[in-house]
Amino acid sequence: MPIWDQLQETIRFIQAKVSDTPRIGVILGTGLGGLGEKIDDAHPISYEEIPHFPRSTVEGHKGQLVFGRIGAKPVVVMEGRFHFYEGYSLAQVTYPVRVMRALGAEVLIVSNAAGGMNPKFTAGDLMVIADQINLMGVNPLTGPNDDRLGIRFPDMSAPYDQKLIGLAERIAKAAGIRLHRGVYAAVTGPNLETRAEYRFLRGIGADAVGMSTVPEVLTAVHGGMRVFGVSCITDVCIPETLKPALLEEILRVAKEAKPRLTHLVSQLIEQL
Ligand code: HPA
Repeated sequence: MPIWDQLQETIRFIQAKVSDTPRIGVILGTGLGGLGEKIDDAHPISYEEIPHFPRSTVEGHKGQLVFGRIGAKPVVVMEGRFHFYEGYSLAQVTYPVRVMRALGAEVLIVSNAAGGMNPKFTAGDLMVIADQINLMGVNPLTGPNDDRLGIRFPDMSAPYDQKLIGLAERIAKAAGIRLHRGVYAAVTGPNLETRAEYRFLRGIGADAVGMSTVPEVLTAVHGGMRVFGVSCITDVCIPETLKPALLEEILRVAKEAKPRLTHLVSQLIEQL
């Protein structure tokens, strides 16, 4: 079934359950699910119930779409995302972004856990994503283009919204939260990088690396959304001093950063 028709079925199903039009879509990354508690009048819908939606399999990911309000703003929050390394196609990975857009969301906020190559970073720091590099070797926008969803050759001169970056930086400053600004590079994973790869990534201008976000952001920009992204730097990846990365440690750092990330994103939504 063409994606346009799938989307109509999906949003018909959702709109029968939820009456508010979400204005802001949020994707919560690994271990960063804390924003869920800030949603008023929360109406969760499990991914399994939603027509044409993929299912979540990764540890630390819940697998539900939560509708409700943060402050006065109607939102739709993805608790648990889909990764390319799990075996999903990028069409599946980015389908929820299309759904958010089709429901009426104009802004996409994404968070993720990432390794930091910038020597100024320490584990637990937050980084607002100023720009991105796609190193996945695949792109969610290949294949026939449906002009109703976006144009064939979308501009990427500024995928991340400058005003949202500025607002986030003001919020972080007022709250005493250390917030870097940097470039996020996406790889497919699932392995973490070799020392040579971290050196390469730093050399091409990346400050952080992770296994998500870029496909969703490409899709959101294609669909005409304003985007804000933030990474939690869960491990520092300096080739000369690199230690073996442990998933438990990555999840522990993400959990420790959760209150700061939640404050930043909820304030951003309220002040938007
Ligand atoms: N590389 C890729 N993805 C990651 C990393 C990393 O070092 N840390 C957390 N997610």
